[in-house]
Amino acid sequence: MAKPRVFVSREIFPEFIDLIATETDMELWPDELPPPRDVLLEKTQGVDGILCLLTDKIDPEFMDNAGTQLKVISQIAVGFDNIDIHEATKRGIPVGNTPEVLTQTTADATWALMLAAARRITESERAIHAGNWRTWHPLHYLGYDVYGATLGIIGMGRIGFEVAKRSVGFDMKILYYDVNRREDLEEELSMEYVDKDTLLAESDFVTLHTDLNDSTYHMMDDKAFAKMKSNAIIVNAARGPVIDPQALYRALKDSKIAGAGLDVTDPEPILMDDPLLQLENCVIVPHIASASHTTRREMSSIAATNLLNGVKGEPLITCVNPEVYS
Ligand code: DGY
Repeated sequence: MAKPRVFVSREIFPEFIDLIATETDMELWPDELPPPRDVLLEKTQGVDGILCLLTDKIDPEFMDNAGTQLKVISQIAVGFDNIDIHEATKRGIPVGNTPEVLTQTTADATWALMLAAARRITESERAIHAGNWRTWHPLHYLGYDVYGATLGIIGMGRIGFEVAKRSVGFDMKILYYDVNRREDLEEELSMEYVDKDTLLAESDFVTLHTDLNDSTYHMMDDKAFAKMKSNAIIVNAARGPVIDPQALYRALKDSKIAGAGLDVTDPEPILMDDPLLQLENCVIVPHIASASHTTRREMSSIAATNLLNGVKGEPLITCVNPEVYS
């Protein structure tokens, strides 16, 4: 019997490529950059499954082009805003993602950004490389204390909660906002549920952990930044478009807020002429929050298993749209 045909849109950990290659007729896109749209469409015509990344747009055109035999879309990420889930569900196609395994690693990275922005780590390190460390000076590189500050978390999902847990050692007051209040979690960390405006007005650190959807697109706009404290720092390890980048630039440039730590940008990659890159008080890293050896291996394992289960018609181990099974 012919093996199922699959397309894997980027290298993942080699042992999982080997596993997929053993069980399927696999085509692997070998380049560092995503396949261009026309190539993606050409390569996925007639496939039974795809292992994709957040840089691959999986929309109705993709699904029409792939054909009715498409049995599974396996994404190697927890977020799936690049995939039209409604359309996949309508067609009975299960969509897999990689939740849980990246929660701790992403929470760690959120803290790295928070500390780096608060204590001007990247800015002062750049100064050394530019030959500007001339002396110890009482007034140089003054930042903001994290210890004892107020942390505002927007989005109290798995990652938001782990970010909150890490703040206990810093003796922080924790405020949070989510469309769903999480009373079950509040007592453990003495977290206070507040509305978004209160959170913005009272927090020294605001960290974003929401999905990207119509209601969160550009949620942080001029009006939102105007509500924040002038010493406040914003951190985004969710999705770039949750922040309006021009509004962020104005807020940082005009000292309406003190700093930003961004794992994600809009667009990605950030354009080299983006004015945010000119600002010393904006720490930017290239969407690496889940990038630890252990986590990316586990993400590879789940994505490969979901792909293989899907092409065999077996349930995915982590499925975004389990209603396709009912
Ligand atoms: C995700 O999983 O959605 C992250 O953005 C990449 O790990």
